[in-house]
This record gives sequence, C-alpha cells and structure tokens, in this order.
Amino acid sequence: MIPDIAKFLDMHNHILPGIDDGPKSLEESAEMARCYVNVGITQIITTPHFIPGTAWAVGRQKIAEKIAKLTCFLKKKQIPLKIFPGMEIAYHKTLLDRFEKGLLQPLANSSTYLLEPSFQDTAEDLLLCSKKLQEKEQHVILAHPERIKTFQDSLEPLLDQVHDGLEIQLNTGSVLGKFGSASRETAMCLIEKQCVHYLASDAHSANNRKPLDRAEWNELSVILGPELLTTLCIDNPNILISTSYE
Ligand SMILES: [Fe+2]
Repeated sequence: MIPDIAKFLDMHNHILPGIDDGPKSLEESAEMARCYVNVGITQIITTPHFIPGTAWAVGRQKIAEKIAKLTCFLKKKQIPLKIFPGMEIAYHKTLLDRFEKGLLQPLANSSTYLLEPSFQDTAEDLLLCSKKLQEKEQHVILAHPERIKTFQDSLEPLLDQVHDGLEIQLNTGSVLGKFGSASRETAMCLIEKQCVHYLASDAHSANNRKPLDRAEWNELSVILGPELLTTLCIDNPNILISTSYE
C-alpha cells in the first residue's frame, strides 16, 4: 500500500522569501505552501542556504523573523502550514567557530545540522568538519551527496563516515532521475548500500524545482517500496521535530 503523502515531512526546502535562491516574495512562498497543503501536508522544516561570505548567509534571528512573517501571511490566506527552522550550511573554514558561538541553526532546534557539500571542491574539509561536530555529540546530515561529482566518482570516503554516524539525505529529484543519470545511479547505489536516512524535495519554487506532488510520491513508492519510503520521508524526519522545543 502506498504511504500517505500527507505524513511526508519535507526537511530540506527553500520556502522563505528573499533569503536565497528560493521565492522572491511572500506571494511566491505562498504558492509553494499551497503545493504542500494541496496534498495534505501540514508541516515542513525549511533550510535556507547559509554560505558565509555571500549574500546567502542570514542568521538564526532573521530566519525566525521570516518564518513568523510567512506564517502570518499564510494564516491570512488560510493556508495551514507549520514551518520549523533549519539551515543548509555550506562548508566554510569558520564553520566550527560559528557552531561554538551558536550561530548555526539546527533542524527544528534539534541537535542535528544539515551540511551542504560544495559542487566544485573535494569534500575532504567538509567531512573532517562533520567528524569534529560528531565528536561534539552533534548529529550531521549531508545534503544530496549524490549530486556531487567527487562522490559520484568515489563513495568510499563518504561510506566510511556513514558507518561512523554521518547521515545522508538524498533529493527526491535524484531518485526520480531529474538531475541526470550520474545523480540517479549514485542515489540508487547509496540506497542499495542502506546508507540513506532522509529523502527531501530541496524545493525552490512552485514551478521548476517544486515540492513533491502525488504522482511523484507514488512513483517513489514503486521505486523504493512503501516501507523504505515511510522510513526516509516520514519516520526519520519526524524524529527531528519530536526533539524540538516547540
Ligand atoms: Fe537546498
């Protein structure tokens, strides 16, 4: 039986307006919110880019303000979607220092951080940094490694760290073949090796990179099987919000 899409907790998306390469306005964010609500989804964790030294690096306070403003706007439009805070944190040499100062936003205020590997560089520094965070008893999820050339070429360094506790989030689009064959093959290889913990949309708008629709959800259920889909899209992400203070 196909799992209920309404229970899907999308823990990686860019719904907040004017903060990164997601929606530019509250209205565009509301269009994205409608995509979720139309299939019965009631809550998400949003993860704006955090790339130090660029325009996409707003802090926790600003994220909280943006969520409050969007929530108010959605309420007026009668779009019932609860949004938990998160961050998609790109590797930067100051990352550990920022962590120590409490500047990084964990997913739904849990002790889990979503790290984004670079599309250009090797992942050595990032993996080292993630190891140091884990030593500090923080959980780390690596966002969409299947889209990164260095992991497409060799999964070994990543697999070693997964065995030490690093968690992996794949994009639904990769499994559905929307990011090309290399991303799909790497995604399926990680799934076969049972090294995947989360699946999320990484949605950026209501048009191009949009939230998952029912047809895509059903397709994922065929590809992965209902049990694994439930684990990756419903059970594991819900653990993140169950440890939240809200
Ligand atoms: Fe993202």
